[in-house]
Amino acid sequence: MRAGFREDDAVESPRCDDEHAASHAWRDAAEARVAGGRHRSERQRRRAFELVREVRSEGVPVTVLTFFNHAGGVAKTSTVRDIGYVLGEMGKRVLLIDVDPQANLTKWMGVEDDIALSQTIYPAVIGDPDMEEGTEDADVELTLPEPLHVHGVDLIPSHLNVAIVEREILSIFMGVMRLREAVRRLEGYDFVLLDPPPSLGQLSALAVVAADRVVVPLPTNRKGLDGIPTVIKMVREYRKAARELSIALFVLTQHDRRTRHDRESLEIIQSQLKAFAPISTPLNSRPAYYSDAQVEGVPIPLYAPGSIADEEIRVVTAELVAALGGSDDG
Ligand SMILES: Nc1ncnc2c1ncn2[C@@H]1O[C@H](COP(=O)(O)OP(=O)(O)O)[C@@H](O)[C@H]1O
Ligand SMILES: [Mg+2]
Repeated sequence: MRAGFREDDAVESPRCDDEHAASHAWRDAAEARVAGGRHRSERQRRRAFELVREVRSEGVPVTVLTFFNHAGGVAKTSTVRDIGYVLGEMGKRVLLIDVDPQANLTKWMGVEDDIALSQTIYPAVIGDPDMEEGTEDADVELTLPEPLHVHGVDLIPSHLNVAIVEREILSIFMGVMRLREAVRRLEGYDFVLLDPPPSLGQLSALAVVAADRVVVPLPTNRKGLDGIPTVIKMVREYRKAARELSIALFVLTQHDRRTRHDRESLEIIQSQLKAFAPISTPLNSRPAYYSDAQVEGVPIPLYAPGSIADEEIRVVTAELVAALGGSDDG
């Protein structure tokens, strides 16, 4: 898997200054940038709509997707935010669930309010946080709280205190199934996207077991390559609790095509992973867009509509929807 990387292939650091300037100038430059690409972009956009309609017309109920990679910094949260937004913009009814106590998804969707534990996944997996321990009614059904509405999608936010689920869930028989059960009782959604923390702990297990399919964000570099065996092993492990679970798509992220290291990694990923699941077109490394969108609290397609970064996310969203229509043996 490591394919003979050499020391002199180390990734060059991205040219942040250039990227930053490009990001701020995007409005002025948007027309020039997409000129020539516009036709292709429109066609891709139309195709994406068609694909979404096809999936709906087959009568598929809610599709629950967990974006899983135990490594941190691989763009799980970014891709949940952006793909979720694009699906919402296409008219799909989308629920995003922030399962990470870091609450990046919550913040990056622009939520600045103080979040109570009762607004998070906590009531669905442990119980009413305001109820005294031992006084719970065993027959009361655990449910997800009323979601927030942001940027055209629904969001169950997170908070640092969600971290206590890691410990409390351990004393509950079959506790790992609880988020799955709660998500399956939801009505009125086409897609539910879950963003787990970067770990192999209980919160990640809850999130992956809740899924119909797993989406694996994967940077095209050594970190991405090194994580692959564990990702595949863990999906097989989680399948003991969720038997139909499989990988829907590897979403290639943070690709820096200027470096040989990334180009080589991309080739290795494409040749070695296609046996497991479809592989997306790479989302290119664009540090300024991504950091500025975070500061603004908006998804990339809303921060820079019509930009190349926006177009890439729409392409990958269409590829995901197409992958969901097909079969694989992740
Ligand atoms: N295509 C990209 N180009 C540049 N930076 C990116 C890209 N995708 C994600 N990032 C940045 O990488 C960092 C990690 O991404 P994040 O979505 O938080 O990953 P994870 O949820 O897997 O920890 C974030 O600072 C994010 O802005
Ligand atoms: Mg994250």
